Amino acid sequence: MHDMTKWSFFLSLLLCIFNTRTCFSNGSDTLSVGQSLSVTQSLISEGRTFELGFFRPGASQNIYLGIWYKNFADKIIVWVANRESPLNPASLKLELSPDGNLVLLTNFTETVWSTALISPILNSTEAILLDNGNFVIRDVSNTSITYWQSFDNPTDTWLPGGKLGINKQTGQVQRLISWKNSEDPAPGMFSVGIDPNGSIQYFIEWNRSHRYWSSGVWNGQGFTAIPEMRVNIYNFSVISNENESYFTYSLSNTSILSRFVMDSSGKMMQWLWLAGSSQWFLYWSQPADQADVYAACGAFGVFGGSTTSPCKCIKGFKPFGQNDWSSGCVRESPLQCQNKEGNRKKDEFLKMSNLTLPTNSKAHEAANATRCELDCLGSCSCTVFAYNNSGCFVWEGDLVNLQQQAGEGVSWAGADIYIKLAAAELQVENGAGKGNKRRTRAILAVVIPVTLITFGLFIYCCYLRKSKLHHKGEEDTSENLLFFDFDTCPNSTNNVPSSVDNRRKNVELPLFSYESVSAVTEQFSHKLGEGGFGPVYKGKLSNGVEVAVKRLSKRSGQGLEEFRNETMVIARLQHRNLVRLLGCCIERDEKILIYEYMPNKSLDFFLFDANKRQILDWGSRVRIIEGIAQGLLYLHRYSRLRIIHRDLKPSNILLDSEMNPKISDFGMARIFGDSETEANTKKIAGTYGYMSPEYAMDGLFSIKSDVFSFGVLLLEIVSGRKNTGFYHRDSLNLLGHAWKSWNSSRALDLMDPVLGDPPSTSVLLRHINIGLLCVQESPADRPTMSDVFSMIVNEHAPLPAPKQPAFATGRNMGDTSSSTSSAGFPSVNNVTVTMMDAR
Ligand SMILES: *[C@@H]1O[C@H](CO)[C@@H](O)[C@H](O)[C@H]1NC(C)=O
Ligand SMILES: *[C@@H]1O[C@H](CO)[C@@H](O)[C@H](O)[C@H]1NC(C)=O
Ligand SMILES: *[C@@H]1O[C@H](CO)[C@@H](O)[C@H](O)[C@H]1NC(C)=O
Ligand SMILES: *[C@@H]1O[C@H](CO)[C@@H](O)[C@H](O)[C@H]1NC(C)=O
Ligand SMILES: *[C@@H]1O[C@H](CO)[C@@H](O)[C@H](O)[C@H]1NC(C)=O
Ligand SMILES: *[C@@H]1O[C@H](CO)[C@@H](O)[C@H](O)[C@H]1NC(C)=O
Ligand SMILES: *[C@@H]1O[C@H](CO)[C@@H](O)[C@H](O)[C@H]1NC(C)=O
Ligand SMILES: *[C@@H]1O[C@H](CO)[C@@H](O)[C@H](O)[C@H]1NC(C)=O
Ligand SMILES: *[C@@H]1O[C@H](CO)[C@@H](O)[C@H](O)[C@H]1NC(C)=O
Ligand SMILES: *[C@@H]1O[C@H](CO)[C@@H](O)[C@H](O)[C@H]1NC(C)=O
Ligand SMILES: *[C@@H]1O[C@H](CO)[C@@H](O)[C@H](O)[C@H]1NC(C)=O
Ligand SMILES: *[C@@H]1O[C@H](CO)[C@@H](O)[C@H](O)[C@H]1NC(C)=O
Repeated sequence: MHDMTKWSFFLSLLLCIFNTRTCFSNGSDTLSVGQSLSVTQSLISEGRTFELGFFRPGASQNIYLGIWYKNFADKIIVWVANRESPLNPASLKLELSPDGNLVLLTNFTETVWSTALISPILNSTEAILLDNGNFVIRDVSNTSITYWQSFDNPTDTWLPGGKLGINKQTGQVQRLISWKNSEDPAPGMFSVGIDPNGSIQYFIEWNRSHRYWSSGVWNGQGFTAIPEMRVNIYNFSVISNENESYFTYSLSNTSILSRFVMDSSGKMMQWLWLAGSSQWFLYWSQPADQADVYAACGAFGVFGGSTTSPCKCIKGFKPFGQNDWSSGCVRESPLQCQNKEGNRKKDEFLKMSNLTLPTNSKAHEAANATRCELDCLGSCSCTVFAYNNSGCFVWEGDLVNLQQQAGEGVSWAGADIYIKLAAAELQVENGAGKGNKRRTRAILAVVIPVTLITFGLFIYCCYLRKSKLHHKGEEDTSENLLFFDFDTCPNSTNNVPSSVDNRRKNVELPLFSYESVSAVTEQFSHKLGEGGFGPVYKGKLSNGVEVAVKRLSKRSGQGLEEFRNETMVIARLQHRNLVRLLGCCIERDEKILIYEYMPNKSLDFFLFDANKRQILDWGSRVRIIEGIAQGLLYLHRYSRLRIIHRDLKPSNILLDSEMNPKISDFGMARIFGDSETEANTKKIAGTYGYMSPEYAMDGLFSIKSDVFSFGVLLLEIVSGRKNTGFYHRDSLNLLGHAWKSWNSSRALDLMDPVLGDPPSTSVLLRHINIGLLCVQESPADRPTMSDVFSMIVNEHAPLPAPKQPAFATGRNMGDTSSSTSSAGFPSVNNVTVTMMDAR
């Protein structure tokens, strides 16, 4: 083959020397009349997006002429010329012949593929690969006259600008037809095309005839069965005139690449690539469930639902191809009626249960099952029979779309079916002769079902889950996060505390599909940190907006409906000092919350870092304290839900671009199911150092336990030091140190030294006083958040003297100095703990 290549190169060189017109320059985008493209050459579109040339799919030895994206390491083939006529000799070339046709020649003379235009001889044509992936034969003098284009002859891929239509003159439907398998572009069983009857929808068909999925009619904005397409990234148009009618689409954002593919798994897929990302991602695929793909496992293949190997052959059959299930399975031994000489034994029947059969059976009356069996045995075309009180049902020829089922309400779920096999097949297992036929059956009736039952159970589970989702209509309502525009979303409104009930009707929390959340976070790859309730990831929407995605750990005991309601309630809490909840995703056992992204990470990131601490001057610290107080006040008082945060700490205070504080993780206790107010709980969730004594020790929590945490936070902000992990000559923690300094009138020592001289000693002392009031031992002594807020704003009102704070002496609640993370969303330096109270 190598020699052949050399030879062809030498030959084209010779041709070049004798006739400059035939010399094609490698890598240009145009082929002129008489020029040809050899196996080692390629056409590259002007913008270098697409490349046309020869390729070998996978490990295949065959060579095809195709078009692929130029800029991806893996060749993603979008068009194949000779999909039905694979070639393997090296002496191949593509030529634009003098009659204006593109021809693929082998051995330099034999045509294996051609555009077959029967137009008049045109010597003024050229073939050009356009930057949208369309390969066109056009007129040189008037380039808007197109004689032929690859977009009119798609293989399995539909690119923006391409057509999916019908020729009204001939009634011929232009389809995307799947590859047979990943190494064979020959037309496979699955295809998608426009409704030949004229309605604006498309159908996926098996064997170009059996329809198993419909997109639903185009309603001007989307197809009903593809909610993902409702986003406004498309300009989707339907063009209809007397000659043809077709769909075409373009993308409004040219930095997005898109391709619809009729995949050899029987699903239609849309893949997108966003400028700058490292890989293509699957935007949607339909039918959503592989079980809905007709005949996914081919003849005599049984679909079992497992994702790794969904197909199995019925006993007595073996797979036809290695990776081509659409060709199904073939008999290991021929039937007697097919092979009279070699096989003397009468064919027998294998009994199977819980198999969904195709509906194309033929029914006739039969007195009993024995009669029915004899009828099937007597007809060579009969492959399966089943008998119930209505009569005898027989299936002829190849059986397709067999599915293993364990549920009720499925055809033949209860009844047994009998598959005709060569006698040899049934005897292999038993080593038994003809006389043991009954025993053979009996044993098989046990063995086969047992091996299939595990398989069946799995599908049953999938089925249950699927039907659950269907009931709630999840699939129809979930939105696509990637293309969501939060600015036009009704949810993005005011900070004014308002009645939850009034707003109930008009605020809807968007529910996003798991696929889109995964795409936005690039398969959950950029972890920002680990909050108390699960990891947080960064995501980026197509319009550049960044979001934080919190994937809740699975320990929440809530059901989906409860979770959704709860999230909806939390989403209605809107305040400028609370992190905004933008949406959620409930799918595949996942519960995910989508928040606004805070570029400045969390408070601890600044406060406890020797350098970054200096960014927080006295003014911004006061603003942060006030902001937290307002947010907490809103939660406790105005939200009407009286939310107790229970885990207030610097890592849960996020900072926006102007260093305004926003409380995060509020309402988590509700979401996680223990929402009793002022109660005691067996489960203590919180962080040592910020938990009030009554909560840490007795599990009692109330709004006053949040006040305690706020006091600790306030003292930390003023001093720039952590409550725990605090070392001083004679104090165990910051609270103890503050108390000592306060009593010895050296309270100013508490101030963070990086702040320099305090702008006003009285303001500083006032803050320390408030902080100490909040951390008093007895909850009754602590002020409420509204008291705290008025103390902060009324600078001249007298303040009570604080009593000794909790934990000031002796009991240190432990050191939680795990490493500080550089995370952006709730960071992890103080890990939230959950422990079961030992009471
Ligand atoms: C044509 O260009 C491609 C790279 O674009 C190169 O791999 C190939 O060897 C070239 N063929 C010839 C004949 O120069
Ligand atoms: C090309 O020629 C070789 C031998 O010269 C032959 O074996 C092969 O079948 C030919 N190819 C085609 C497509 O006819
Ligand atoms: C192309 O066609 C023009 C007339 O349409 C003719 O004059 C010219 O000779 C032709 N060239 C070739 C190479 O056939
Ligand atoms: C090119 O052809 C189109 C029709 O196909 C016609 O409208 C246009 O005027 C032609 N342009 C020239 C320059 O002849
Ligand atoms: C086209 O529509 C007619 C009536 O609406 C229906 O009977 C026929 O089956 C349809 N054909 C196809 C191929 O859908
Ligand atoms: C596909 O349909 C054609 C006729 O349309 C038929 O001859 C062929 O047997 C079908 N293939 C299978 C696997 O059923
Ligand atoms: C959408 O596409 C159609 C046909 O391709 C075109 O006529 C129309 O101007 C396009 N609209 C927008 C908004 O790009
Ligand atoms: C339809 O086809 C006829 C003949 O092929 C052509 O004359 C006519 O212009 C075409 N109509 C449109 C709208 O393209
Ligand atoms: C187009 O998408 C890219 C991301 O792929 C984004 O950065 C850019 O802002 C978008 N442009 C418009 C106009 O939406
Ligand atoms: C089944 O029906 C046939 C008549 O169609 C009868 O001869 C035979 O005895 C019946 N067998 C049993 C087991 O009832
Ligand atoms: C027998 O099976 C057929 C096909 O599934 C069904 O329509 C019929 O109702 C069944 N009859 C009885 C008595 O179960
Ligand atoms: C078939 O399904 C029924 C109902 O779910 C179940 O009771 C039975 O065990 C299943 N049989 C086999 C062999 O799986």
